[in-house]
Amino acid sequence: MLQSMRIEGGHRLEGTVEISGAKNLALPAMVASLLTDQPIVLHNVPNLTDITTMLGILEHLGSDPSCYGSDITLCTKNIVNVEAPYDYVRKMRASILCLSPLVSRCGRARVSLPGGCAIGLRSVDLHIRTLVLMGADISIEDGFIKASAPNGLTGCEIEFPKVTVTGTENALMASVLAKGSTRLVNVAIEPEVQEFAKLLNLMGAKISGIGTSVLEIEGVEKLHGAEFNIIPDRIEAGTYAIASSLTHGKIFLKNCIYGHLQCFFTALQQTGTTVQNREDGVLVYNNNDVIYPYCIYTDPYPAFPTDLQAQYMVLMSLCNGNATVTENLFENRFMHVQELIRMGANIYVDGRCARITGVQSLKGAPVMATDLRASVALVLAGLVAEGTTIVNRLYHIDRGYENIDNKLCACGAVLERITQ
Ligand code: UD1
Repeated sequence: MLQSMRIEGGHRLEGTVEISGAKNLALPAMVASLLTDQPIVLHNVPNLTDITTMLGILEHLGSDPSCYGSDITLCTKNIVNVEAPYDYVRKMRASILCLSPLVSRCGRARVSLPGGCAIGLRSVDLHIRTLVLMGADISIEDGFIKASAPNGLTGCEIEFPKVTVTGTENALMASVLAKGSTRLVNVAIEPEVQEFAKLLNLMGAKISGIGTSVLEIEGVEKLHGAEFNIIPDRIEAGTYAIASSLTHGKIFLKNCIYGHLQCFFTALQQTGTTVQNREDGVLVYNNNDVIYPYCIYTDPYPAFPTDLQAQYMVLMSLCNGNATVTENLFENRFMHVQELIRMGANIYVDGRCARITGVQSLKGAPVMATDLRASVALVLAGLVAEGTTIVNRLYHIDRGYENIDNKLCACGAVLERITQ
């Protein structure tokens, strides 16, 4: 049944939000369990539909998962299936992460092409290119990527023409069990990618250069089990930081790691918000009457994250001047703009750049969520809009925000879920 969220705007938020484990680390960490026949124990895994989808895929491939609270143990004694079916992949593009471990461990894989994606082409050509350079035969048949490397993969030097997060993670999973050494140049250095490489090393891999844009991997014969803690979700933390700033509130982001959001917090401070790095989290409050304009552009880490662009745009919609938000990573990530305009925002999209003129207030309206980050941006807009906002197609939000209703209500938000 389809769910919506009804939000009564205009309530200042104050309280503590405990930040959950990072979705974008939990997903590849779960997939890494395919590389060994021993158990991988993950702590602090968020309860999200994307995680449930991934559990479904891994079970289909032969994993025997057990979940207890936020702990997940995954053990894949044998891979019983080398195909990641369309039904899973269409729900979550991160399913492409299964490609490399299947080829590494079984010498073959059949993974459905993700197909059209709401936020841009987000092609998988770089994932495929890595495997081809490492000696796999790849063909596209009936909407599936069919990969085969019966004699295993061979290490080589691979330079990425574009920084890709899951592309780097797939390349790492292809290299750790490959023959010889691999050098990956121009890799993603997002905290999640660094942590992912550390997990692989805990499993017995030999990866050096973690945290830099060049990774060197010495292939090993076998990987073993490991126990690993998922870091807090910086995108979730950034979203609640904006909720605090927007409502002129005060929210303590428990567990948030300041250094993972340096560029974002610097921008937030420029808008007049106070950000204090504390021992066990980050305090964000906004005592100002106005929100100052500050222009941002998205790029790979450590730049401003694309996953916080839509939320930041809501803040700029209410600034006391003009600001631009430039999206450099995805070509179609402005779908929230039309909905924000319906709520009274003044935004003009000019190619990759959204030009925003701040307005006095937003007005509640029924709006439609189109993707994960766009949907949470509409919830943020609803929190400050005059009157009632109804965010439809809420399922997007449950893919990436654990317990969002309770977390917001505990800080004083007035909202409820409705089933239509
Ligand atoms: C990951 C994150 C997502 C985030 C994105 C950018 C996960 C599960 N998801 O997605 O939340 O928004 O990083 O920070 O970690 N590209 C190609 N060819 C490829 C792969 C990517 O052209 O083979 C392009 C994409 O179209 C995009 C850019 O590279 O323009 C970056 O995408 P990428 O970093 O790969 O995003 P994801 O890993 O899918």
